[in-house]
Formats: sequence, structure tokens, C-alpha cells
Amino acid sequence: MEQWRAVDAYIERHLHRPDPVLDAALSANHHAGLPEIDVSAPQGKALHLYARMIGARRILEIGTLGGYSTIWLARALPEGGRLVTLELEPAHAEVARANLDRAGLGDRVEIRIGAAKEALTAMIAQGEAPFDLFFIDADKESNADYVRAAIALSRPGSVIIVDNVVREGGVLDADSDDTRIQGTRALFAMLADEPRLDATAIQTVGSKKWDGFVIAVVGAAP
Ligand code: SAH
Ligand code: DHB
Ligand code: MG
Repeated sequence: MEQWRAVDAYIERHLHRPDPVLDAALSANHHAGLPEIDVSAPQGKALHLYARMIGARRILEIGTLGGYSTIWLARALPEGGRLVTLELEPAHAEVARANLDRAGLGDRVEIRIGAAKEALTAMIAQGEAPFDLFFIDADKESNADYVRAAIALSRPGSVIIVDNVVREGGVLDADSDDTRIQGTRALFAMLADEPRLDATAIQTVGSKKWDGFVIAVVGAAP
């Protein structure tokens, strides 16, 4: 565990630039009493690089918290790009809004406050244009529903990433009474049975302990 953290620091020291904007966001989150469950810096940068790799112009995030992952993702957008992020808690959204404005990203990012399911249903009903990249990181119980909604808001080639799918190996526990584990297992069952997606999961260790991401592409492999 200590070594995982030390290696994250090594990665940051070598491959990341000093980043007062992200430091300020984490500090504002801490002062506002938000839970420290943002992605790690290397995970955040990985999200940023994925967005750049696919040239994402429209990104949908589910679960904003203080906007730490939002900043990493929004920074990958080209001129005119847009990120929509869904957050249940008005107090979290308020901290995120200040962090995004301070980061100079306020004009590219729309925070929609409320239950994600309702926002997603409304977006689908209104024929919202497809998103290129989805980052799903809210209540784990709803992950299968969120992926289904993401598919409805996607185009062939869109990328769907889901956070926290390993939970220190907890995902293996079929008898778990933790609803987050049950939600994650339901997500894997749904993905296993979803012909519109091609998916895998990558385990991660680091300052956020042992966890992992699902990564999926919309559309069957060629
Ligand atoms: N993506 C953030 C961390 C998100 S933490 C980062 O890495 O920086 C999960 C967030 O999802 C919390 O802010 C929580 O309030 C929000 N959330 C939980 N249930 C939700 C729901 N039903 N709809 C929208 N947001 C929800
Ligand atoms: C939790 C949620 C997260 O999104 C995360 O990255 C880590 C932990 C949680 O609810 O415990
Ligand atoms: Mg998470």
C-alpha cells in the first residue's frame, strides 16, 4: 500500500507538470468536507489522455463530486468542445462550479444538479446529440442502468469508462451484502450480455488502493 502510493508520487514527479489548479481543487474539496474519493492524479491524467486519444468533443460524466476528474477531462476538449456532468448533491456541485471556474473551464462545462437517472432519461427523450466519451462514477448500484443510458446517448465508436469496478477484489464476492458490490456485479453481468459493447476491465493500484476501470467501446469489433 505505501509502495503503491510512493509509485503514484514517482509517476507524478516524472510525468506530470506541477498543477496549482488541481491542487487548489483538492484543497477546496477538503475544506468543504467532501469525501476524498476523487480519482488519483495518474487516473485523472489517464482519463484526459483517453479523451485526447479519441479526439473527444463531447463528454458526459456521471458523478461530479468537486470536479477533480471533470477538470482532467474538460482540459482534453478542443475549442468548442463540451462536457456535461451530473451531480445529485447541490453542495458538491457548488464546490465543483468554483473549482471549474478557477480552472478557466467554466464555459465548457455544464453541471446538471439532480438524480442522474432523471437527467439521462430527459436527455434521451430530448434527442441530445451523441457523446464521444462517458465517465461513470456515481452510485455504484446504478452502474448497469447508467451504461444502458450511455449506449442510448452514444454513436458507434463512443467510449464508456466506469470507475471502481474491482473494490479491492470485492467484486468476486457473490454473497456480498454491500449494495455497491452487487451493483458492480450486475454491471459485469450486463456487459457480458450486451452485444452493442466490446469491453474489458483494467485493475489499478495506487493512492486509491486496489480498484479498477471498465473500458468499453460502442459497436462490435471488426
Ligand atoms: N468523479 C469524481 C468523484 C465522484 S464521487 C472524481 O473522480 O473527482 C461520486 C459522486 O456521485 C458524489 O458527488 C455523489 O454525490 C454523486 N452521486 C451519487 N448518487 C448520484 C445520483 N443518483 N445521481 C447523480 N450523482 C450522484
Ligand atoms: C467510493 C466512490 C468512488 O467513486 C470512489 O472512486 C471511491 C470510493 C465510495 O463510494 O466509497
Ligand atoms: Mg470513483
